Amino acid sequence: MAILDKHAILEKNVTLLAIFAFLVVTIGGIVQIAPLFWLENTIEDVEGMRPYSPLELAGRDIYVREGCYVCHSQMIRPMRDEVERYGHYSLAAESKYDHPFQWGSKRTGPDLARVGGRYSDDWHVDHLRDPQSVVPESVMPKYGFLENRMLDGKYVVDLMKTHRLIGVPYTDEMIENAQADFKVQIDPFGDTDGLLERYPGAQVRNFDGQPGISETDALIAYMQMLGTLVDFSTFTPVANR
Ligand code: HEC
Repeated sequence: MAILDKHAILEKNVTLLAIFAFLVVTIGGIVQIAPLFWLENTIEDVEGMRPYSPLELAGRDIYVREGCYVCHSQMIRPMRDEVERYGHYSLAAESKYDHPFQWGSKRTGPDLARVGGRYSDDWHVDHLRDPQSVVPESVMPKYGFLENRMLDGKYVVDLMKTHRLIGVPYTDEMIENAQADFKVQIDPFGDTDGLLERYPGAQVRNFDGQPGISETDALIAYMQMLGTLVDFSTFTPVANR
Protein backbone atom coordinates (compact mmCIF):
# COMPACT_ATOMS: atom_id res chain seq x y z
CA MET A 1 0.00 0.00 0.00
CA ALA A 2 1.33 3.36 -1.04
CA ILE A 3 0.54 5.23 2.16
CA LEU A 4 2.18 2.63 4.37
CA ASP A 5 5.28 2.71 2.21
CA LYS A 6 5.68 6.37 3.20
CA HIS A 7 6.63 5.08 6.62
CA ALA A 8 10.01 4.23 5.14
CA ILE A 9 10.68 7.98 4.86
CA LEU A 10 10.32 8.32 8.64
CA GLU A 11 12.42 5.29 9.30
CA LYS A 12 15.28 6.69 7.33
CA ASN A 13 15.22 10.24 8.71
CA VAL A 14 15.96 10.42 12.40
CA THR A 15 14.92 14.08 12.81
CA LEU A 16 11.57 13.49 11.18
CA LEU A 17 11.10 10.34 13.26
CA ALA A 18 11.80 12.29 16.44
CA ILE A 19 9.30 15.01 15.51
CA PHE A 20 6.54 12.53 14.72
CA ALA A 21 7.27 10.44 17.81
CA PHE A 22 7.04 13.63 19.90
CA LEU A 23 3.68 14.49 18.34
CA VAL A 24 2.26 11.05 19.01
CA VAL A 25 3.42 11.03 22.63
CA THR A 26 2.06 14.56 23.18
CA ILE A 27 -1.38 13.69 21.85
CA GLY A 28 -1.45 10.46 23.88
CA GLY A 29 -0.38 12.34 27.00
CA ILE A 30 -3.03 15.03 26.63
CA VAL A 31 -5.77 12.47 26.05
CA GLN A 32 -4.78 10.69 29.27
CA ILE A 33 -4.02 13.61 31.52
CA ALA A 34 -6.34 16.44 30.49
CA PRO A 35 -9.64 14.82 31.60
CA LEU A 36 -8.30 14.53 35.16
CA PHE A 37 -8.59 18.28 35.51
CA TRP A 38 -12.33 18.18 34.85
CA LEU A 39 -13.48 14.83 36.19
CA GLU A 40 -15.45 15.50 39.38
CA ASN A 41 -13.98 12.68 41.43
CA THR A 42 -10.36 13.67 40.95
CA ILE A 43 -10.86 17.19 42.22
CA GLU A 44 -13.64 16.84 44.78
CA ASP A 45 -13.11 17.75 48.42
CA VAL A 46 -13.93 14.93 50.78
CA GLU A 47 -15.30 15.39 54.27
CA GLY A 48 -12.97 14.36 57.07
CA MET A 49 -9.67 15.12 55.35
CA ARG A 50 -7.42 17.37 57.42
CA PRO A 51 -3.70 18.16 57.46
CA TYR A 52 -1.49 15.83 59.52
CA SER A 53 -1.08 16.64 63.20
CA PRO A 54 2.49 17.64 64.16
CA LEU A 55 3.29 14.17 65.56
CA GLU A 56 1.80 12.40 62.53
CA LEU A 57 3.71 14.70 60.21
CA ALA A 58 6.96 13.93 62.03
CA GLY A 59 6.14 10.23 61.72
CA ARG A 60 5.52 10.62 58.05
CA ASP A 61 8.92 12.24 57.70
CA ILE A 62 10.50 9.17 59.30
CA TYR A 63 8.52 6.92 56.97
CA VAL A 64 9.98 8.82 54.01
CA ARG A 65 13.48 8.95 55.49
CA GLU A 66 13.57 5.20 56.13
CA GLY A 67 12.36 4.47 52.61
CA CYS A 68 9.30 2.49 53.66
CA TYR A 69 7.79 3.50 50.30
CA VAL A 70 10.39 1.37 48.55
CA CYS A 71 8.48 -1.73 49.67
CA HIS A 72 5.02 -0.34 50.48
CA SER A 73 2.53 1.46 48.30
CA GLN A 74 -0.20 3.73 49.63
CA MET A 75 -2.75 3.54 46.87
CA ILE A 76 -5.54 1.00 46.72
CA ARG A 77 -6.59 0.60 43.12
CA PRO A 78 -10.28 0.27 42.23
CA MET A 79 -10.07 -3.42 41.42
CA ARG A 80 -11.93 -6.14 43.23
CA ASP A 81 -8.93 -8.07 44.59
CA GLU A 82 -7.43 -4.89 46.02
CA VAL A 83 -10.64 -3.57 47.51
CA GLU A 84 -11.40 -6.91 49.17
CA ARG A 85 -7.95 -7.11 50.67
CA TYR A 86 -7.26 -3.52 51.67
CA GLY A 87 -10.62 -1.73 51.82
CA HIS A 88 -12.22 1.11 49.84
CA TYR A 89 -10.08 2.22 46.92
CA SER A 90 -8.01 5.34 47.56
CA LEU A 91 -9.54 8.71 46.73
CA ALA A 92 -7.48 11.49 45.19
CA ALA A 93 -8.41 13.73 48.13
CA GLU A 94 -6.85 11.29 50.56
CA SER A 95 -3.37 12.19 49.40
CA LYS A 96 -3.95 15.88 48.86
CA TYR A 97 -1.83 16.86 51.87
CA ASP A 98 0.95 14.41 51.00
CA HIS A 99 4.14 16.11 49.85
CA PRO A 100 5.65 14.07 48.36
CA PHE A 101 2.86 11.57 47.74
CA GLN A 102 3.47 8.00 48.87
CA TRP A 103 1.60 6.09 46.18
CA GLY A 104 4.67 4.01 45.48
CA SER A 105 5.37 1.76 42.55
CA LYS A 106 6.41 -1.44 44.26
CA ARG A 107 4.82 -3.80 46.75
CA THR A 108 7.32 -6.06 48.42
CA GLY A 109 5.05 -5.67 51.43
CA PRO A 110 1.30 -4.93 51.50
CA ASP A 111 -0.33 -1.61 50.66
CA LEU A 112 -0.49 0.62 53.74
CA ALA A 113 -3.08 3.20 52.63
CA ARG A 114 -5.60 1.84 55.18
CA VAL A 115 -3.35 0.18 57.71
CA GLY A 116 -4.65 2.55 60.44
CA GLY A 117 -6.46 0.61 63.15
CA ARG A 118 -5.74 -2.78 61.58
CA TYR A 119 -3.22 -3.72 64.28
CA SER A 120 -2.64 -2.69 67.88
CA ASP A 121 0.19 -0.33 68.84
CA ASP A 122 1.91 -3.26 70.58
CA TRP A 123 1.81 -5.24 67.37
CA HIS A 124 3.50 -2.35 65.55
CA VAL A 125 6.17 -2.06 68.24
CA ASP A 126 6.94 -5.80 67.99
CA HIS A 127 6.77 -5.73 64.22
CA LEU A 128 9.11 -2.76 63.86
CA ARG A 129 11.54 -4.27 66.36
CA ASP A 130 11.58 -7.66 64.71
CA PRO A 131 9.14 -8.27 61.85
CA GLN A 132 9.96 -11.99 61.80
CA SER A 133 8.73 -12.34 65.39
CA VAL A 134 5.15 -11.71 64.25
CA VAL A 135 5.34 -12.74 60.57
CA PRO A 136 8.03 -15.47 60.38
CA GLU A 137 8.38 -15.37 56.57
CA SER A 138 8.71 -11.56 56.48
CA VAL A 139 11.60 -9.98 54.60
CA MET A 140 11.05 -6.58 56.21
CA PRO A 141 14.16 -5.14 57.90
CA LYS A 142 14.25 -4.41 61.65
CA TYR A 143 13.57 -0.84 62.80
CA GLY A 144 14.01 -1.28 66.55
CA PHE A 145 16.61 1.50 66.68
CA LEU A 146 13.83 4.06 66.14
CA GLU A 147 12.74 3.45 69.74
CA ASN A 148 15.99 4.91 71.02
CA ARG A 149 15.94 7.98 68.87
CA MET A 150 14.08 10.62 70.86
CA LEU A 151 12.28 13.60 69.36
CA ASP A 152 11.84 16.99 70.98
CA GLY A 153 9.74 18.54 68.25
CA LYS A 154 12.42 21.11 67.56
CA TYR A 155 11.93 20.99 63.81
CA VAL A 156 8.22 20.39 63.65
CA VAL A 157 7.39 24.08 63.22
CA ASP A 158 9.81 24.35 60.30
CA LEU A 159 8.36 21.20 58.83
CA MET A 160 4.82 22.58 59.04
CA LYS A 161 5.85 25.92 57.60
CA THR A 162 7.45 24.14 54.68
CA HIS A 163 4.27 22.22 54.06
CA ARG A 164 2.27 25.43 54.29
CA LEU A 165 4.54 26.96 51.67
CA ILE A 166 3.52 24.27 49.22
CA GLY A 167 -0.18 24.54 49.89
CA VAL A 168 -1.12 22.60 53.02
CA PRO A 169 -3.60 24.82 54.90
CA TYR A 170 -1.84 25.00 58.27
CA THR A 171 -3.24 28.03 60.08
CA ASP A 172 -1.22 30.44 62.24
CA GLU A 173 -2.93 28.90 65.25
CA MET A 174 -1.76 25.43 64.24
CA ILE A 175 1.80 26.64 63.82
CA GLU A 176 1.76 28.51 67.13
CA ASN A 177 0.57 25.43 68.98
CA ALA A 178 2.69 22.96 67.05
CA GLN A 179 5.16 22.23 69.84
CA ALA A 180 2.43 21.74 72.44
CA ASP A 181 0.27 19.62 70.11
CA PHE A 182 3.30 17.53 69.23
CA LYS A 183 3.94 16.69 72.87
CA VAL A 184 0.38 16.26 74.08
CA GLN A 185 -0.54 13.65 71.47
CA ILE A 186 1.32 10.93 73.36
CA ASP A 187 -0.01 12.06 76.75
CA PRO A 188 -3.43 10.58 77.55
CA PHE A 189 -3.61 12.68 80.74
CA GLY A 190 -2.75 15.95 79.00
CA ASP A 191 -5.12 18.70 77.89
CA THR A 192 -5.90 17.55 74.37
CA ASP A 193 -8.96 19.72 73.63
CA GLY A 194 -6.99 22.12 71.44
CA LEU A 195 -5.27 19.30 69.58
CA LEU A 196 -8.56 17.55 68.84
CA GLU A 197 -10.21 20.76 67.72
CA ARG A 198 -7.38 21.52 65.32
CA TYR A 199 -6.96 17.92 64.16
CA PRO A 200 -10.29 16.11 64.52
CA GLY A 201 -9.87 12.38 65.02
CA ALA A 202 -6.24 12.63 66.13
CA GLN A 203 -5.45 9.56 68.26
CA VAL A 204 -3.93 10.32 71.64
CA ARG A 205 -1.89 7.58 73.34
CA ASN A 206 1.59 6.63 74.31
CA PHE A 207 2.10 4.64 71.13
CA ASP A 208 5.30 2.79 72.00
CA GLY A 209 4.54 2.41 75.72
CA GLN A 210 7.90 3.95 76.74
CA PRO A 211 8.46 7.32 78.41
CA GLY A 212 9.33 10.22 76.09
CA ILE A 213 8.58 10.72 72.42
CA SER A 214 10.57 8.37 70.24
CA GLU A 215 10.63 8.08 66.47
CA THR A 216 8.65 4.87 66.95
CA ASP A 217 5.89 6.91 68.65
CA ALA A 218 5.71 9.29 65.71
CA LEU A 219 5.83 6.52 63.11
CA ILE A 220 3.05 4.51 64.79
CA ALA A 221 0.92 7.66 65.25
CA TYR A 222 1.25 8.15 61.50
CA MET A 223 0.47 4.55 60.59
CA GLN A 224 -2.52 4.33 62.90
CA MET A 225 -4.25 7.26 61.20
CA LEU A 226 -3.56 6.17 57.63
CA GLY A 227 -6.83 5.81 55.74
CA THR A 228 -9.02 6.48 58.77
CA LEU A 229 -10.08 10.08 58.14
CA VAL A 230 -12.80 9.52 55.55
CA ASP A 231 -15.93 7.81 56.86
CA PHE A 232 -16.83 5.44 54.05
CA SER A 233 -20.16 4.49 55.59
CA THR A 234 -21.42 7.97 54.69
CA PHE A 235 -19.24 8.80 51.69
CA THR A 236 -20.83 9.09 48.23
CA PRO A 237 -18.59 10.22 45.42
CA VAL A 238 -19.84 13.46 43.83
CA ALA A 239 -19.71 11.75 40.46
CA ASN A 240 -22.27 9.16 41.63
CA ARG A 241 -24.79 11.52 43.17
C1 HEC B 1 12.53 -4.60 52.18
C2 HEC B 1 11.14 -4.26 52.06
C3 HEC B 1 10.45 -3.56 53.22
C4 HEC B 1 10.74 -2.34 53.79
C5 HEC B 1 11.91 -1.41 53.45
C6 HEC B 1 9.71 -2.09 54.74
N1 HEC B 1 8.81 -3.11 54.76
FE1 HEC B 1 7.11 -3.20 55.87
N2 HEC B 1 6.71 -5.04 55.13
C7 HEC B 1 7.48 -5.72 54.21
C8 HEC B 1 6.91 -7.05 53.99
C9 HEC B 1 7.45 -8.10 53.06
C10 HEC B 1 5.76 -7.13 54.80
C11 HEC B 1 4.80 -8.33 54.95
C12 HEC B 1 5.27 -9.24 56.08
C13 HEC B 1 5.21 -8.57 57.41
O1 HEC B 1 4.10 -8.23 57.89
O2 HEC B 1 6.27 -8.33 58.01
C14 HEC B 1 5.66 -5.87 55.50
C15 HEC B 1 4.63 -5.53 56.38
C16 HEC B 1 4.47 -4.29 56.96
C17 HEC B 1 3.32 -3.91 57.76
C18 HEC B 1 2.08 -4.76 58.01
C19 HEC B 1 1.09 -4.47 56.91
C20 HEC B 1 -0.12 -5.36 56.89
O3 HEC B 1 -1.16 -4.90 56.39
O4 HEC B 1 -0.03 -6.49 57.35
C21 HEC B 1 3.54 -2.64 58.19
C22 HEC B 1 2.62 -1.79 59.04
C23 HEC B 1 4.83 -2.22 57.67
N3 HEC B 1 5.35 -3.25 56.93
C24 HEC B 1 5.42 -0.99 57.90
C25 HEC B 1 6.67 -0.62 57.41
C26 HEC B 1 7.32 0.61 57.76
C27 HEC B 1 6.75 1.69 58.67
C28 HEC B 1 8.52 0.62 57.11
C29 HEC B 1 9.60 1.66 57.19
C30 HEC B 1 10.08 2.03 58.51
C31 HEC B 1 8.60 -0.60 56.35
N4 HEC B 1 7.46 -1.33 56.57
C32 HEC B 1 9.65 -0.94 55.52
C33 HEC B 1 8.60 -5.23 53.57
C34 HEC B 1 9.23 -4.04 53.85
